[in-house]
Amino acid sequence: MMRTTTDLWGNPVSNASAADIRGLEGAITLMNAYQADPLAAVDRLIAENPEFVMAHAFRAGMLATTGDKAFEGELAKSVAAAEALLAKANDRERLHIAATRAWLDGRFDEANDRWGRAAMLYPRDTLAVQFAQLTDFFLGYSHMLRDRVARVLPHWDKNVPNYGFVLGMYAFGLEESGDYAQAESMGREAVALDGRDAWAAHAVAHVMEMQGRATDGAEWLETTSAHWAPNGLFNFHNWWHQALFVLDTGDVKGALGIFDKKIAANGYSQALELVDGAAMMWRLSSFGHDVGDRWTKIADGWTSRLNDGYYAFNDLHAMMSFIGAGRAAEQKLLLKAAERSAEGKGTNAMMSREIGLPSLKGFMAFGRGAYDEAVEHLLPVRGKANRFGGSHAQRDIFSWTLVEAALRAGDRSLAEGLVAERLAGKPESRINLAWDERVCQLPSRLAA
Ligand SMILES: [Fe+2]
Repeated sequence: MMRTTTDLWGNPVSNASAADIRGLEGAITLMNAYQADPLAAVDRLIAENPEFVMAHAFRAGMLATTGDKAFEGELAKSVAAAEALLAKANDRERLHIAATRAWLDGRFDEANDRWGRAAMLYPRDTLAVQFAQLTDFFLGYSHMLRDRVARVLPHWDKNVPNYGFVLGMYAFGLEESGDYAQAESMGREAVALDGRDAWAAHAVAHVMEMQGRATDGAEWLETTSAHWAPNGLFNFHNWWHQALFVLDTGDVKGALGIFDKKIAANGYSQALELVDGAAMMWRLSSFGHDVGDRWTKIADGWTSRLNDGYYAFNDLHAMMSFIGAGRAAEQKLLLKAAERSAEGKGTNAMMSREIGLPSLKGFMAFGRGAYDEAVEHLLPVRGKANRFGGSHAQRDIFSWTLVEAALRAGDRSLAEGLVAERLAGKPESRINLAWDERVCQLPSRLAA
């Protein structure tokens, strides 16, 4: 018998049997933990009950928050299926459905707002909190990554199932807001409560990345992976962080090994994996390390998304890949697609105008050795790049590329300033110290 009832967190669920709701709770827990496979679990729920409103909204939310246009067709189907059931939906489900419609139509900020409202109305709706936080991430709302979760925390304690996952989300928000001590403490607590929590492990890894604690970070991920890795959907990204740590210990071969086994070996099935692949290869290549033919598969993955115009942050990583693989025609096509996006509607138009286009031009200039021009494009973007999303660690690619461009252009004052900025945050980073040495070898600006 179908009726409106509640899940174990007290959230109203419409048009679902008790068995449907138990299944939904299991899928939510998998999603919160980033453990395989919430999509398969939701598909089973929909097969059992094709009019299960929240299952359709959940499926659409998962597909939207991949940030990958490759899933747009499936997202459109889920949104349509959910909208067809609006008459049977409660107010919480209507907010979820409205969020997915907004995302599908390119209004990312409106999607974020709808999930955020659902989270405030139903503070134990972890899906709403999680989708809102993921879209805070895509939108670059660093402080909202923290405050979004702080809003709901008074409604949680250790006796409520999945409390640890909420702490894990809070830990990541604290880290992105610069409160490293509290972030590490919360993240460690979350991992202690549930070792499967890949997001909480990730939050602690971010703290260590921001503080230049490469050895600590590598150990932390290695140790905790025994619990999150076996069925983790987020492993590739945590391994990306692992490769960054290993690289900063000076072990290039080790970083490439992690890249090959843990990131590339999966075949880049989604944009987020291509982002991580490109980000790691760019760092290694721009340091002059031979990465063999590793760019080829990454560039191939982006080629199918070439006329994307979906998300400027992805575009930049596609551009890195086309530069790395030496594909000039694709670089131009991508730039054209981004120019069209910038003139269009939706959140990505702003992202492309303000961050995407100057970034693409800057990286293209870097790729052809026009380092002064690269600086002209990239330096003004450095301080506002959060507007196209990502984490501080991911956007470090701007600082990284600018330092290299300044050094190669022989611009000592710029290189000195940028390296000083990096050393202030990570005084013991081998990479930063290597850059500092190169700065010292440039002719003094006072001697000019
Ligand atoms: Fe990360």
